[in-house]
Amino acid sequence: MRSLRVLLVEDNPDRAELAGRALLREAHVNEVVRVESGQDCLERLANDCKFDLILLDYSLPGIDGLLTLGEINKNGYDMPVIMVTGHGNEEVAAEAIKIGAYDYVVKSGNYLAALPAVVMKTLENHRIKKEHAQLRENIEQNYLDTLEVLISVIEAKDSYTRGHSEGVSKYAFAIAKEMKLSSGEMERIRAAGLLHDIGKIAIDKQILLKNGPLTDEERKVVQTHCECGVKILKPATFLGEILPIVHQHHERFDGKGYPQGLKGDEIDQGARILAVADSFEAMTSARSYRSAMPFEEAVDEIRRHAGGQLDPEVVEAFLTAVKKIK
Ligand SMILES: [Fe+2]
Repeated sequence: MRSLRVLLVEDNPDRAELAGRALLREAHVNEVVRVESGQDCLERLANDCKFDLILLDYSLPGIDGLLTLGEINKNGYDMPVIMVTGHGNEEVAAEAIKIGAYDYVVKSGNYLAALPAVVMKTLENHRIKKEHAQLRENIEQNYLDTLEVLISVIEAKDSYTRGHSEGVSKYAFAIAKEMKLSSGEMERIRAAGLLHDIGKIAIDKQILLKNGPLTDEERKVVQTHCECGVKILKPATFLGEILPIVHQHHERFDGKGYPQGLKGDEIDQGARILAVADSFEAMTSARSYRSAMPFEEAVDEIRRHAGGQLDPEVVEAFLTAVKKIK
């Protein structure tokens, strides 16, 4: 087992001695390094940050424990801090927890007897927290791998779609960023951009790849790709958040879109963003039956549809975002 190291920040030598002994004896700690002030603590960490835990006294010479904790946080050291406060200093303890201390110990009668248990509990909680973070990272990686698989499935059916989906995703993300949406929302929109046309897998290849105009009947078949996309993605619960975008990406701001004919704010904001990105990407990409529209002309075309087919607020963000992409 790896040896456990604790950094003890305590200016009182007797108390430090007793606390150190208690930790070595009862908390399975192998090494206790003691420093006498917040400043010394920060200097020590700058040279040696391989500690498993910091036991930080609040009242110290120079900068106090709270300020020291703030500096530790700023430097992003990955180790839990337990604040040790004087009796009757509960506000300090509460503040310490607020700014990131794992726990606190109040220096009352026999606090040294309780200290090893608090240290062990904190070390265990920190270990579990790290394990969870690792697990979450693995889940996120699995999610990205799954997206990759789904995208290659679309590509196998319709070779033009891959480049298109990546382009839509890129433009939609840039618009979302310009609109200052949350990072979670931006990621939702990015993923939906990649998968919005997945329902095309279910569409007859003869119709999907037809060279020339579609009949009314064929158009209706193609239009089912929004609902097909939802059916395909629904079993993957972690993709649940992007379903409204997949379902609504052909809705129009003026209510003349499909499949539901939703209007304005009834349409998911992500879908309104995707509609702009989708139109722009389609116009600026060459197809087998037509060449690509010049960039500036396509921008004008998007501007022209603001308030009609497209959400004017989204178009405005697009017009700024597109200058940065070009
Ligand atoms: Fe589509």
